Amino acid sequence: MQGSANLNLMIKAARKAGRSLVKDFREVENLQVSTKGPGDFVSKADREAERIIKEELMGGRPTYGWLGEETGEDEGADPTRRWIVDPLDGTTNFLHGLPHWAVSIALEHKGEIISAVVFDPAKDEMFVAEKGAGAWLNDTRRLRVSGRRVMIESIFATGVPFGGRGTLPATLKDLARLMPVCAGVRRWGSAALDLAYVAAGRYDGYWERGINAWDIAAGTLLVKEAGGFVGPVREGDDPLEKGAVIAGNSELFTPFANIIRSRD
Ligand code: IPD
Repeated sequence: MQGSANLNLMIKAARKAGRSLVKDFREVENLQVSTKGPGDFVSKADREAERIIKEELMGGRPTYGWLGEETGEDEGADPTRRWIVDPLDGTTNFLHGLPHWAVSIALEHKGEIISAVVFDPAKDEMFVAEKGAGAWLNDTRRLRVSGRRVMIESIFATGVPFGGRGTLPATLKDLARLMPVCAGVRRWGSAALDLAYVAAGRYDGYWERGINAWDIAAGTLLVKEAGGFVGPVREGDDPLEKGAVIAGNSELFTPFANIIRSRD
């Protein structure tokens, strides 16, 4: 794939942060772990990865705005463009030595995601997308969502809210409605990879309530550019703003979304 200069900058930043994270992986006793809230951890590894990404991206595009999980929001001189970054999506997996976590970088232009990178350093999988140019894995494989049409043959991913989050009861209701009519639900602990796996046709769909924009911004473009659909849990909402998202292949999106959206 011939990426734009911005996409190449994002890939470079993700690789650099990935190298730093791999060095820290399974070195938990040196990671100065603290909690941001119940079940919500941050460590030296997340902070260092975000520092590296910010230095690369803001060094390359000093006028763009910034939204990062660990460093918050900065308004740029160019109000139309903003980086949305999760330096380590799947922090809890990382801290438990589970090799399922990713760097997620999105570029937003006038409120729309136009470039996306989700990098899984442990498996060396680089998922990228640009608006109108498709989604790709490791530069060579064009990504396509799955073609499954039957709910009972399909698997879905989600995040089950932790630490007493208010979205738990609604998620448990979703599970009660969905599980009897599908082949399984996975909860692997990285929303960015959940969406990348929908784009790659590994999962047939994903939904989550109570999720942050930095966890899903890049992944939503991957799904759309791989031919899938992305929408809000409550119709009319912006999934990134409201933190509630549904994604799926084009065949199953509607029946799947109807289950998640149904109120009974
Ligand atoms: C978490 C992961 C997880 C999701 C949580 C997120 P973090 O992100 O994406 O899959 O279920 O809601 O907070 O904290 O590891 O960046």
